[in-house]
Amino acid sequence: MILVLLGLGFFPAALADGLVYETRSFHNPDGIGKVYMGREIAQVMGYEGAGWLERDRRDGEEQPQKVIAGLDLKSTDIVADIGAGTGYFSFRIAPRVSKGKVLAVDVQPEMIEILKTLKTKKHLSNVQPVLGSVTDVNLAAESVDVALMVDAYHEFEYPKEVMTSIVKALKPSGRVVLVEYRGENPLVLIKGLHKMTQKQVQKEMQSVGLTYLETRNSLPQQHLMIFEKQS
Ligand SMILES: C[S@@+](CC[C@H](N)C(=O)[O-])C[C@H]1O[C@@H](n2cnc3c(N)ncnc32)[C@H](O)[C@@H]1O
Repeated sequence: MILVLLGLGFFPAALADGLVYETRSFHNPDGIGKVYMGREIAQVMGYEGAGWLERDRRDGEEQPQKVIAGLDLKSTDIVADIGAGTGYFSFRIAPRVSKGKVLAVDVQPEMIEILKTLKTKKHLSNVQPVLGSVTDVNLAAESVDVALMVDAYHEFEYPKEVMTSIVKALKPSGRVVLVEYRGENPLVLIKGLHKMTQKQVQKEMQSVGLTYLETRNSLPQQHLMIFEKQS
């Protein structure tokens, strides 16, 4: 009955929110006190951390070329980099999709400004910055071949709504690629809420109708997990 009423839009947003998310007043200081499918959502990394995203040693630490190889891109592909930040991945992917484009989506207007500045500086016209909302990536239906999220999904305030909007934006058989620090490994020295286990990622992706394809273990500290939209 509740689900029928929800589908018909009879429930106020706050009540619907309470059915999907749990709120805790005593919680992890790195989190927002909101729990989704047993996982507390992490605080958003503010635009003040842009310099950290662009740090020199990042290439060695994260080996982004292996992430890009794992995307199996065609030159005509439309890639959505969701939670793009400064575009660390968007600008590395752009030359690989010379006949396609990269939609660099972020919710912070300051990050969008940084993306626009770097786009001009790097002369990469096929990167398109897109301001998303906390519930919607604001991309056209069935327009995206690959949706990539690197170190971002764990901090989405409304993961269910954002993932639903991503699934809608994917073409049939489009893929979601999630790169998250390995939550199973205590030797990965990243704050707990900024890591995810494979089991948790699979549970959350399957709940929005995505099919798990595979995990690539080529990265030093992160999982690269691939899911597919049903055709
Ligand atoms: C830790 S940064 C990672 C940035 C980039 N993916 C990278 O690896 O360099 C996470 C980014 O996700 C963005 N973000 C948080 N919630 C979001 C949402 N609901 N939709 C889109 N972006 C979001 C933040 O604004 C931030 O720029």
